[in-house]
Amino acid sequence: MDLLTPELNHYLRSTQRPTLWLVDENIQLDTAANPQVHVIGNRLDVIERLQAQHWQAQFSDFDLSAYAEGHFAQVLYRVSKEKPVVHYLISEAKRLLATGGSLILLGDKGEGIRTYARKAEACLGGVRQERKLGGDSWCAEITAAYAPGTCPEHQDYTALRQVCSDQHHQYVSKPGLFGWNKVDRGSALLIEHLPAMLEAPLPFRGSVLDLGCGFGYLAINAAGPESRLVCTDNNAAALQACRYNLNQAGLNGAEVIATNAGDRLQPDFELILCNPPFHSGFSVDGDLTDRFLHSAQRLLAVNGTACFVVNQHIPLERKAAGLFADIVTYMDSGQFKLVRLRQPINRQTRGPS
Ligand SMILES: C[S@@+](CC[C@H](N)C(=O)[O-])C[C@H]1O[C@@H](n2cnc3c(N)ncnc32)[C@H](O)[C@@H]1O
Repeated sequence: MDLLTPELNHYLRSTQRPTLWLVDENIQLDTAANPQVHVIGNRLDVIERLQAQHWQAQFSDFDLSAYAEGHFAQVLYRVSKEKPVVHYLISEAKRLLATGGSLILLGDKGEGIRTYARKAEACLGGVRQERKLGGDSWCAEITAAYAPGTCPEHQDYTALRQVCSDQHHQYVSKPGLFGWNKVDRGSALLIEHLPAMLEAPLPFRGSVLDLGCGFGYLAINAAGPESRLVCTDNNAAALQACRYNLNQAGLNGAEVIATNAGDRLQPDFELILCNPPFHSGFSVDGDLTDRFLHSAQRLLAVNGTACFVVNQHIPLERKAAGLFADIVTYMDSGQFKLVRLRQPINRQTRGPS
């Protein structure tokens, strides 16, 4: 276990005052629920696991508007990967903490924890105390004072903004999404070769699933108003951006659904598009690719096609063996591979979990 988790668990177990715990994907879970703690998180899988352990946990893109100023005595936060998210949550902590309350920040030096702690001190106006937990890991406690502070710039975190465009579409997105401000090169490659992979022109007319949709790039470029389209992701911000971009592209009939790797979706889809994640927060998570492959196998129509794009080093074909009878590495660009999967093997149809 890392050095941050026991420290976080200590705070979660011991607090007897109203506490807000902000979580994203960078947490390990092994503490019994504490009724004093409200949890807000932007990853559906993390929040569902906490709810199953009876935490008061809500899934949203860190929408804290329901809480009044000064509502909490403590805010706990293991810092996120993206700076604007951390800056936004430090500013929100200032609003939500009662005077004399404290913000507890946890993270590694390489993740900027010490800079964040100094920024939080300037924002909250109180006293900062830091402890090295060992290795690279730090815990900082910053108290909230009456004094007006200068909070760090979060680039209007809550707003969607136009980030990029191509020949046909403009896309909105926001910090906190995977590669939030550009079209992913792997995804662009998949769209370029998709008609040839499918031996059919786009837009695809049958049912389409964008598994791990991000801001919706694959769906928007592959489906048309006549397709039955479902887009899914576990990230609350991604779902917001995707819904907006679909509407802008005239795909208002599409469904945008929060799931953990497609777990609560029903088969069958004639086309599944996927650029699977392989990072979970700060770490690489090889199991994620397997989970996405298993979902694709479960959700694909017997005569359907799943098209994946992955980094070249991911052994997708080996992982897919046993799940699909027809596996073709359609192209290898030296950086990305396009893999076409057909004929799902021994498909067991499961209902929503
Ligand atoms: C590599 S990105 C691809 C995004 C988008 N399809 C594109 O092509 O630009 C992978 C996406 O998977 C999502 N994701 C990660 N873990 C997930 C999970 N457990 N369930 C659903 N989606 C997940 C991420 O939020 C991210 O949007």
